[in-house]
Amino acid sequence: MQHEDSPKGASAPAKAWSGRFAEPADRLMQRYTASVAFDRRLAEVDIRGSLAHARMLARQGILPAGDLADIERGMALVAAEIRDGRFEWSVAREDVHLNIEARLTELVGDAGKRLHTGRSRNDQVATDVRLWLRGEIDALLALLRAVRGRLLDMAEAHAATVMPGFTHLQVAQPVTFGHHLMAYFEMFSRDAERLADCRRRVNRLPLGAAALAGTGFPIDRESVAAELGFDGVCENSLDAVSDRDFAIEFLAAGALAMAHVSRLAEELVLWMNPRFGFVDIADRFCTGSSIMPQKKNPDVPELMRGKAGRVYGSLVALLTLVKAQPLAYNKDNQEDKEPLFDAADTLADTFTILAELLGGVTPRADRMRAALAEGYATATDLADYLVRKGMPFRDAHEVVARAVREAEAAGVDLAALPLARLRAFSPLVEADVAEVLTPEGSAATRRHTGGTAPEAVRAAIARARARLAAA
Ligand code: ARG
Repeated sequence: MQHEDSPKGASAPAKAWSGRFAEPADRLMQRYTASVAFDRRLAEVDIRGSLAHARMLARQGILPAGDLADIERGMALVAAEIRDGRFEWSVAREDVHLNIEARLTELVGDAGKRLHTGRSRNDQVATDVRLWLRGEIDALLALLRAVRGRLLDMAEAHAATVMPGFTHLQVAQPVTFGHHLMAYFEMFSRDAERLADCRRRVNRLPLGAAALAGTGFPIDRESVAAELGFDGVCENSLDAVSDRDFAIEFLAAGALAMAHVSRLAEELVLWMNPRFGFVDIADRFCTGSSIMPQKKNPDVPELMRGKAGRVYGSLVALLTLVKAQPLAYNKDNQEDKEPLFDAADTLADTFTILAELLGGVTPRADRMRAALAEGYATATDLADYLVRKGMPFRDAHEVVARAVREAEAAGVDLAALPLARLRAFSPLVEADVAEVLTPEGSAATRRHTGGTAPEAVRAAIARARARLAAA
């Protein structure tokens, strides 16, 4: 805030609404109710919205052409001052809207005072937030595309790299690393779908609702919507100024995306632990310890996991904000901005860094395969093998469980038991069993759509590339 206002606000510039009041605002009260410290971030969209409104007023004969010219000239100066950091933001002027309008009026006189004809800050702020959020969503979709593209490239390179798939964090069955990565591709694709879907409801114009009841001036809302790139207008004036469901939807989509990021981050933390050793993470994403010289900690994925909480918090904040508000606008809504800004920033930073982080992850195929040799991951394949030879599945399950116990007692994997030992459990076992007992053999059999066989993974990647290109 470049220019602070005098104590007690006594000699502060008169408020836009001060005519109704007998005494000036107290300094703390002023700071408590002001939003300019954070909503100045909306300045660019606020000016865009004001210009579209003014042009409509002029087209409709509500505003003289000369006034529109003054407003356009003045707003260009205001925009330049803001861009260059010369604009003097004032707490006494409360918010971004009144700051800009007051400065415009200083620059161009009465035309500035006519700008607010047929409009209220209530429909103005709702318009600003929607315009701003639309831009954020578009930027986030581009960042998510980069993350998804990176996952596809990694998955392609590791379509045939076997690793243990886990349930209950215990080795379950062999999967390929490419298949595992493609699971995240699917999650982030749904996140992108949700954001794109939410954008459709964000992109409707509140302007024209005025304070709550619309305006008696002969406005043309549709032309304002078209100029600002909105898909249509909000149908009900009371709803237009009061609901923030579009922002809540965005935060819900963002919270889910952060849940997905957090799961991947958690896996990276586990995989980097030497007991797994499935990946190396480049030094630039890790930090050391100030006391333990040997440490290399996966700080970046840990922070991603932690920052999920910020976005969840924003979602809960806005849900709580709207839940008991009577129609229509209430000042509570001013509290929508900081959580929304914070969530959008967190998402943008997280997606940006995630794409880079994935580039710094080096899979250790040898360690992944070694882990498979310890977990009897192909036990189900042996059971399926016996089923194919005619044994009922429940019996096969029992036979293999006994074979696992014997292997465990001998301290070896199933594949290391001699054929004669396996045949002792069932004469159905023949020499061809060797194929199903290897992780590669196990994975190769799962070649249906959605399966982990390298050929199925490559087909999934090809379909995914087509989807990414089409979206
Ligand atoms: N700064 C306010 C907000 O963020 C703008 C709308 C104020 N409207 C009002 N009637 N006080 O919501």
